[in-house]
Amino acid sequence: MLRQSARIASAGIVRQAAFSSSRTASRAVFTRFIHASRTLSMATPKPGPKLTAETYSDIQRSAQFKTLNSDDLEYFQSILAKNEIIHSRDPSDLEGYNEDWMRKYRGQSQLVLRPKSVEHLALIMNYCNEQKLAVVPQGGNTDLVGASVPVFDEIVLSLANLNKIRSFDPVSGILKCDAGVILETADTYLRENGHIFPLDLGAKGSCHVGGVCATNAGGLRLLRYGSLHGSVLGLEVVMPNGEIVSSMDALRKDNTGYDLKQLFIGAEGTLGVITGVSILTQPLPKAQNVAFLAVKDYQAVQDVFVKAKGELAEILSAFEFMDKRSIQLTKRHIEKDTAFPLEEEYPFYVLIETSGSSKTHDDEKLETFLESAMESELVIDGTIAQDKTELQNLWKWREMIPESSQCQGGVYKYDVSLPLKDLYSLVTAVNERLAAKDLVGAESEKPVIAAVGYGHVGDGNLHLNVATRKYSKEIEEVLEPFVYEFVSQKKGSISAEHGLGFQKKKYIGYTRSDAEINMMKDLKKHYDPNGIMNPYKFI
Ligand code: FAD
Ligand code: MLT
Ligand code: ZN
Repeated sequence: MLRQSARIASAGIVRQAAFSSSRTASRAVFTRFIHASRTLSMATPKPGPKLTAETYSDIQRSAQFKTLNSDDLEYFQSILAKNEIIHSRDPSDLEGYNEDWMRKYRGQSQLVLRPKSVEHLALIMNYCNEQKLAVVPQGGNTDLVGASVPVFDEIVLSLANLNKIRSFDPVSGILKCDAGVILETADTYLRENGHIFPLDLGAKGSCHVGGVCATNAGGLRLLRYGSLHGSVLGLEVVMPNGEIVSSMDALRKDNTGYDLKQLFIGAEGTLGVITGVSILTQPLPKAQNVAFLAVKDYQAVQDVFVKAKGELAEILSAFEFMDKRSIQLTKRHIEKDTAFPLEEEYPFYVLIETSGSSKTHDDEKLETFLESAMESELVIDGTIAQDKTELQNLWKWREMIPESSQCQGGVYKYDVSLPLKDLYSLVTAVNERLAAKDLVGAESEKPVIAAVGYGHVGDGNLHLNVATRKYSKEIEEVLEPFVYEFVSQKKGSISAEHGLGFQKKKYIGYTRSDAEINMMKDLKKHYDPNGIMNPYKFI
C-alpha cells in the first residue's frame, strides 16, 4: 500500500486513477447494487420475537388503563372510515405494528388507528384520555430502543395517513408538512425544488418526518447541518386531552417566551402527538464527493478527523468511522451483491463526504487533503467515488452495518456519546468482557457473533452493536448495566441519538441527575396526567 500511495503522490493524484485499483474491478458490481437500505422491509420470514411482557416479566400492565371494549370500538368507528381502523385478535394481522425493527420487542395491541385528519386524531386523543386508554404514537416503526411498539395492549396511533406536504417556500427554504410524510419522500420533493432535508439516515425510506422529530434523530450529516433542535422551526402537536397546539407559523427568530416545541423534539411520543412539522431545509449541494479510507488504528481515525476539519472545513458534510469487525459483518451480508471497495482489510475505516457548490474547488481540496494524508501514511488505502452510483455504494458500506448486525439472530444496540479520545474504548472493553465469559466466537454454539463499533465521529457518537445468534438474558446481563456504567464513568451519555424507549428507561439515572429526572416527571404529569402517552417507556 505504501508503494501505491507513493505512486499516487508522485503522480500528483490524477483523480480518475487515484487510490485503489479495486475500483475498476468493482465498477460492474457497483452498478448492480440496489439501494436496499433505503426501504426497510418488516416482512422477513423469520419467527417473531417473544412478547416483551414475557422477556421482561418484571414489567406489569398498569391497572390504571382500561381494556378496550366494544363501546370504544364503536366510538372509533363513528369518527373514522373503515380503512382507518385495523382491529384484530389474530397477532399476525398486526405484526408490523406490534414488532420492532430489531425483532427484539413485541406488543399485544389489537387495535391500530390510522386517522386521515388532525381533527379526527384530536378526537381520538380526547376520547382515549377520558377513557384512560393507553396510546402508542407510531411513525415508520424504525425506532431502535423499543419505543415505537406497544408493551401490552396499548392502541397504536399510526401517523401513516397524515402524509401531505403542506407548503414549501424556496426563498426561505421552509418546508411545512404532515408528520406522516416519509423522510425520503420529503427529501425527494425538496431535491426537485433545489433543496435537501437537513437530516439523512439509513432508515429514510421508512421513517417519518414526525418520527425523526419525536426521536430527535441525529443521522449522518448532523456534523454539517446541526440537530433538529436547531432546524425545526415549529410543530403542530395534539396534546393528550385533544387540544391542538401549533407553532407552524414560527419564524426563524422568535424570542417570545419559552420555546415550547423543543419539549416534543426527542420526547418519544410521551407528551403529545406531532401532526405537523415546519423545518428549515438546506440548498441542494451542487458537488458531492465520498472517500472511503483505511487507517491503522483508532488514533489515526481521530487524526484524520482533525485534519479533515482543518483542511476540508466548510465542505465537510460527514465523517463516519467503522471498525474491522463491523465491515466483516457487512461483507457477509452484502458482498455477494456489492464488491468491497478495497483490496485488503484494515483495522479501521473512515468515510468522508464533502458537499459544496463548486466541483472543481471541492475536488481540488479533497485531493490535496488525501495526497498529504497518504504521503504522511495517516491514510493507508482508500478510494473515491467517481459517480453517483459509486458514491451510494461507498455509503452502503456504512449504512448497511445496522442491518448486517441484526440479520443473523438479533442485536444488542448501544448508542452512546463519549469524549472522542475514549470513543472506541467501550468496544474494546465489551469485547474483552464477552471473551472472558467465553460468549463470543465464530463457532455456532457461541451466542455472540461479534461486538462491533462504528459511528458518527464528527458528533462524538459511537454505535456499539453486539450481534448475536439469538436474544438471550445471559448476554443482556453481561452487557447491562456494564455498558451504562462504563459510559457514565467516562462522563458520556447513554443515548446519543436513538433515545431511551423501553430499553433504557430504567437507566436514565446514568446520564441525568435526580433533579433533571424529577423535572421531566413533573412535565409528564402536568401534560399527561393520566399517563396514557406511550407508557412503560422513557421515564
Ligand atoms: P417510530 O419508530 O415509529 O417511533 C419512534 C418514537 O417516536 C416512538 O417513541 C414513537 O412513539 C414516537 N413517534 C413517532 N411518530 C410520532 C409522532 N408523530 N408524534 C409523537 N411521537 C411519535 N436514528 C438516528 O438518530 N440516526 C441514525 O443515523 C439512524 N439510522 C437508522 C438506521 C436504520 C437502518 C434504522 C432501522 C434506524 C435508524 N435510526 C437512526 C433510528 C431512528 O430513531 C429512526 O429511524 C427514526 O428517528 C424513527 O422514525 P420513525 O418514523 O420510524 O418513528
Ligand atoms: C446509524 O448510525 O447507522 C444509526 O444510528 C442506526 C444504527 O446504529 O443502528
Ligand atoms: Zn447513528
